[in-house]
Amino acid sequence: MSLQLWTHCRAATLQAGAAQPYGLIEDAALVIDGESLAWVGPRADVPADLLARCETQRDAGGALITPGLIDCHTHLVYGGDRAHEFELRLNGATYEEIARAGGGIASTVKATRAATAQQLQTQSAARLQRLIAEGVTTLEIKSGYGLALEHERKTLSVARALGQTHAVDIRTTFLGAHAVPAEFAGRTDAYVDAVLEMLPVLHAEGLVDAVDAFCERIAFSTAQTGRVFAAAKALGIPVKLHAEQLSDSGGAQLAAHYGALSCDHLEWLSTEGAQAMAAAGSVAVLLPGAFYFLRETKLPPVALLREHNVPMAISTDCNPGSSPCTSLLLMLNMACTLFRLTPEEALAGVTRHAAAALGLRDRGVLAAGMRADFVVWGVERPAELSYAFGANPRLQTVFKGGLV
Ligand code: NIG
Ligand code: FE
Repeated sequence: MSLQLWTHCRAATLQAGAAQPYGLIEDAALVIDGESLAWVGPRADVPADLLARCETQRDAGGALITPGLIDCHTHLVYGGDRAHEFELRLNGATYEEIARAGGGIASTVKATRAATAQQLQTQSAARLQRLIAEGVTTLEIKSGYGLALEHERKTLSVARALGQTHAVDIRTTFLGAHAVPAEFAGRTDAYVDAVLEMLPVLHAEGLVDAVDAFCERIAFSTAQTGRVFAAAKALGIPVKLHAEQLSDSGGAQLAAHYGALSCDHLEWLSTEGAQAMAAAGSVAVLLPGAFYFLRETKLPPVALLREHNVPMAISTDCNPGSSPCTSLLLMLNMACTLFRLTPEEALAGVTRHAAAALGLRDRGVLAAGMRADFVVWGVERPAELSYAFGANPRLQTVFKGGLV
């Protein structure tokens, strides 16, 4: 099969342990073999046998190439929106008043249940296209606004379908334990029983790549979360957790015990939690959009995560309640300005570490054998991607599996 050669570019490979920051290669070459990268390195070093097989040659015009971006934590598929609640709050209504009037997560559950699959797909595709336009080539989508079998199935099926109609890989996560639906009010354990019934059904239908839960005093306890995780483990499904967002409930330790791919939010993470995550190899997914939108003041313990070598990923948390955001590049900027990540840490957070948060080993870095998912940017330095905000990303081309 013929190969494709890309030259006249700088490649931020994001390879772990690279000598240069960002794994940057000046005057790089990429050799693409179908859906995979056959070779990445300095242009002068391309092996002669590969060079001889390159039929097409592309001049990147000096552009910067990065791995395709990965948004590893989204609730992208939902009905309605909560702009009206946003307005009510800014006009003085309290969160409790809004919740009592059926607002908050409950209102999104209502709108998601009322929407047809087609309506959900149309509404979600618009959000997805905005992420793709910024170079996202893989993203995760959680359920959790259906909270009943048919509606969780509808959400996850729409998520899968979006991956068929767009040049993006979708990973689906079952978040049945997101909130207690109205019909189970006051009966949280009975709802957990219902979640445990939904899980094997949806898994058998091929709709579940991972299982997540919202472990928090206003949602599910560690004991209830543990029941969900035990069921996931019995089915061989990896777990993730919305952990320590509003308080330290020890969710990170529980998730680590189950070998979680990631723990997400983590503003209230303790030293013990960070140690447990490090030992389990769990990724810390930081969500600056939710921190900003909820006007939180407690910062995630970035120094602690660095100290224990817990990899940090960054994501939009795209959802109608706490982060109505479809810009992963804005999250790069906010990870730097709000959480004080370095631009290099932020870029690794939407590439290499985001891949790990999804358990994907075939992407997130530019290296031989990896998927040929990459973005060509009209910028000189990688830091420009996190430096500018609210700006056109100067994205030139997105390659997904070797296709433009
Ligand atoms: O990831 N933390 C829980 N869930 C969402 C927000 C849910 C909502 O308000 O709709 C989050 O922030
Ligand atoms: Fe979330």
